[in-house]
Amino acid sequence: MTATILPTPADLSITPRDRRFGRAATPRRLWHGGSVEATAIYNALSTTFPAGEAFFVESVRKFRDGAPPRLAEEIKAFTTQEAIHSREHDAFNKRAVNAGYDLSKLEAQVAKRLAVTGSKPPIVSLAATMALEHFTAILAHQLLANPKHLAGADRDAADLWRWHAVEEIEHKGVAYDTWLHATRGWPRFKRWKVKAKVMLYITRNFLVDRTNGALELMRQDGVTGLEAWRRLLWYLWVGPGMFRKIAGAWLRFFMPGFHPWNEDDRHLLTAYDANAGNGTEPKRKVRRSA
Ligand SMILES: [Fe+2]
Ligand SMILES: [Fe+2]
Repeated sequence: MTATILPTPADLSITPRDRRFGRAATPRRLWHGGSVEATAIYNALSTTFPAGEAFFVESVRKFRDGAPPRLAEEIKAFTTQEAIHSREHDAFNKRAVNAGYDLSKLEAQVAKRLAVTGSKPPIVSLAATMALEHFTAILAHQLLANPKHLAGADRDAADLWRWHAVEEIEHKGVAYDTWLHATRGWPRFKRWKVKAKVMLYITRNFLVDRTNGALELMRQDGVTGLEAWRRLLWYLWVGPGMFRKIAGAWLRFFMPGFHPWNEDDRHLLTAYDANAGNGTEPKRKVRRSA
């Protein structure tokens, strides 16, 4: 069998940036520019991260044994980045709870989805991780490329989301390359079929769960019924329209020859690291977990 050619850039360095956000000040409940719907969707997303990213790590690490050395190293760095993301989003979510939100329904829904996927063979969890990591990477790209998404947000919260987005782009190829390695003996069509089916399943759940989660949080702010739907759908699909804007990148996942690094968007990382080096934010490398 010929070796799989991995188009992850040869000079890519996955560098965990061990940073802490928002520990000093008490945030506003509606931290995203005072907007109920903007705060709700980002809070709903954040609720998924602590358990979701722990699941990603577990799913990918199961395939580390026997991986080529470079991929094994990348899995280590991925693990460290995701563990720190979980820590920071856990802290962010606690601040939302302190501000009065009840996240329990949203957390229960995440746990339910993870339990269903986790009850299947490990390759299914890896496929789900690979699909969700693509989702995360294209959301991250859009978040960094278009300042409208975080316009008006409080500084600490915006910093957290930008930092997370940077590292999601940086490690966007890891789950995918692990998947390519784990399925290297599969016929091409089978690989594509499983990948496509999982992505469609994940997308449906992602859209339904995040929409319902955001509506639940909006309800807690007293916005309900048609008014809530109208405002949320407008925010997600029209202006600034995050979901509409990632549609093209989402579709490319199904194209033959897709790889997350077919689009090299490291200029977004370079720009971030240049600004993060302004003396107020540490840029140090951290020890990678084993
Ligand atoms: Fe992450
Ligand atoms: Fe990730």
